[in-house]
Amino acid sequence: MCVPCELCGVNKEKISLTIDGKMIRAEEGARLLWVALDNGIYIPNLCILRSMEMAPAACRLCLVEIDGKSEPVTACTEEVFEGMTVRTATPGVLRLRRRAIELLVASHPTNCPSCGKNRSCQLQSLARHLKLKLKPDRLRPLVQELPIDRSHPALLFDSNKCLLCGRCVWVCKERTGLGILQFTHRGFETRVSTFMDKPLAETGCTGCLECARVCPVGALLPKQ
Ligand code: FES
Repeated sequence: MCVPCELCGVNKEKISLTIDGKMIRAEEGARLLWVALDNGIYIPNLCILRSMEMAPAACRLCLVEIDGKSEPVTACTEEVFEGMTVRTATPGVLRLRRRAIELLVASHPTNCPSCGKNRSCQLQSLARHLKLKLKPDRLRPLVQELPIDRSHPALLFDSNKCLLCGRCVWVCKERTGLGILQFTHRGFETRVSTFMDKPLAETGCTGCLECARVCPVGALLPKQ
């Protein structure tokens, strides 16, 4: 059966797939992550937003197993197809997810009570979901000590808390057209910053706070 796509109005074929044993009908080519979430099957995720056309696949938390594929794949990049069989919580997938989140936790400060995002932080929720402590046991903490940018009247930017998910970079470019926030430096030094590491107040940032709205942790916070 064909149904009009919500976005483009073009008729799309409906297909059947199975996720964790549950039979689901979905639009052919829809992204597996959204199909699962819309059908009440939680797959951890951090770096994607519904409005993104291309998934950055940066956090690696949404790994799943698909029959016929030799390796786990990211649900945010996979399109659903007829007869697809997906398993979201196999021991292998859970192990990889735990590793991915341990790495994020190791590079994130853990003074949560003093953070403006405490209790609404996605990293806290994910750690809780995966039954992980926010202080890594196995990994040496990798927290950087970068200066906090308090220059902007509306926005506070603490890049020590940044998980490099890239949501703010995307929203700053695609939503506001400004492209003020960007990835800078390389390797372990990679961070989100501004051109030439200028303070936000000197960049033409309008203070729309879209970046703070999509930041999963307390790296970008409204001052109010
Ligand atoms: S949500 Fe899929 S890799 Fe981040």
